[in-house]
Amino acid sequence: MSQPRDNWSSNVGLVLAATGSAIGLGNLWKFPFITWENEGGAFVLVYLICIVVVGLPIMMAELLIGRRSQKSAVGALKEAAGPWWGVVGGWGVLAGFILLSYYTVIAGWSLYYFAQSIGWTFGGYPAGMAAGDLFNEQVGNAGLQLALSLSFSVATIAVVYFGVSKGIERIARIFLPILFGILLLLLVSALGMSGSGEALGFIFRANFSELEMSGVLEALGHSFFTLSLGMGAMITYGSYISRKQSIVKASGAIVALDTLIALVATVIMFSVIFSVAGMSDEVSGSPVGMLFISLPELFYTAVPFGVVLGPLFYVLVALAALTSTISLLEVVSSYVIDEHRIPRHKATVLCGGAIFVFTIFAALSFTGTPFLSTLEIFAGKAGWFATADHFVSNWMLPIGGFSITLAAGWFMTRNATERELVDGTEPRWFRYGAWRFFIRWVAPLAVGAIIVAVILGRDFS
Ligand code: PHE
Repeated sequence: MSQPRDNWSSNVGLVLAATGSAIGLGNLWKFPFITWENEGGAFVLVYLICIVVVGLPIMMAELLIGRRSQKSAVGALKEAAGPWWGVVGGWGVLAGFILLSYYTVIAGWSLYYFAQSIGWTFGGYPAGMAAGDLFNEQVGNAGLQLALSLSFSVATIAVVYFGVSKGIERIARIFLPILFGILLLLLVSALGMSGSGEALGFIFRANFSELEMSGVLEALGHSFFTLSLGMGAMITYGSYISRKQSIVKASGAIVALDTLIALVATVIMFSVIFSVAGMSDEVSGSPVGMLFISLPELFYTAVPFGVVLGPLFYVLVALAALTSTISLLEVVSSYVIDEHRIPRHKATVLCGGAIFVFTIFAALSFTGTPFLSTLEIFAGKAGWFATADHFVSNWMLPIGGFSITLAAGWFMTRNATERELVDGTEPRWFRYGAWRFFIRWVAPLAVGAIIVAVILGRDFS
C-alpha cells in the first residue's frame, strides 16, 4: 500500500515553500545584474509586464496541473494531457537535475563569503586586497570548491529527506521570515546612503530609448527562471496542494513576493554602488562580479553597519539558494518516488548523490582541470559550468515552459482547468477567461519568441 500523499499544511505553507523556490540566486545575483546591463527603468517595466502576462499564467498552469493529478512532473503531465506528455515531464526532471548540479556551486560560494566576512568583521577588511583576486583564488581552489558544494548538497538532501510538510515546508517557514528580515535591515541601511536617490531613479525611471529588443527577450527569459517555471518545480509543489487551497491566490502571492524581493535586492545593491564615487564604472562585467567581487569590499568600506550587514548579506544569499535547491531536488526525487516506487529516504539520497557527481564537474570548471575547464560545445561558453548553464537557461527552460503552456491551454479541456481555478476559493479579481486567453495565446507566443531568438543565436545564460 502506498502512503497517503503529504500535503502543505496550509496556504501559507504552500506560498512560503513556493516563494522559497522562486526567490534564489536569480533574484539576488542575476536580476540586479541584467537590470544594470540594460540600463534599468524601461527594462524593469518590461520585466514587470512579462511577469504578469507570462509568468503568472504559467505559474497557475503548473500548480493546477500538479494539484489535479496529485503526482509529480512526469505523472502529472501524462494525466493532464496524455501519455506522450510524460516526455515533457521527463525533460523537466532532467532540467532540474542539471540546474541543481551547478546551482549548488554558486550557492557554495555564499558559504565561503559568509565565513570570510565573519573574519573581516572581527579582523578588519584587509587593506589593499584586490577583491577580484580573492574570488579567483577561491574558485580556482579545487579542494575548497568540492568542500563548499558538498556542504550545500548535504544541506539540501537533509531537508528533502524529511518530506514535504516536515522538511520543505518547515524550513521555508523558518527561513523565509529570516530572509525577509535581513532584506528589510539591508534596505533601511541602503536607503540611508547617499546613492539611494540615484539608484531609485535608475531602477524606476523608464527611458525607452535605452531599451533594445534583446533586453525585452532577456526580461522574458529571466521571468521564467526567477519564478522556477518551465521544469516542473511548480507542478511538483502543486501536487501537494489540497483541494481546500486556492491556486489563484497562492500564485498571485508567490509572483508578487518574488518580484518584490528582486526589486528590493536591486535597490540595495545599486544604492551601495552609487554611493561610492567611481564605483558605477567599476562594477565587474558579470553577475558574479557584482555579488562576489564588488559588494564584499563595499560592505566594509562604505555601508553603515557593514560589519554586521556584510555577513548577514551572505547568510541571505545562502538561505535564498537553499530554499531553491530543495525545490530542484524535490522535482527529481519525487519523480523517482512516484514513478519508480522507491521510498522517499532512499530516493532522496540516491538522487542527491547522483546529482552531486555532476556538481563535482561544475565545481572543478574553474580550476584549470582539463576538459572540465575547457570543453566548449556552445561557442564562447568554455567549461562544464558555462555549458550546463547555457543549455538549461537557453534550451531546457523555454522548451519546457512552451510545452507546459500548450498542455494547459490546448491539450487539457476547458472544464478540467476551470475546475481547478474556479472552485470557490479564487479571489474576486480573477477572471478565468482572461487566464485562458493568456495561456493559449500570449504565453506560447512570448515563449516561442525566446526559442526563436535562441535558435537565431541569442544567449540567455
Ligand atoms: N527561481 C530560482 C532563482 O531565482 C531558480 C530556480 C529555477 C529554482 C527553477 C527552481 C527551479 O534563483
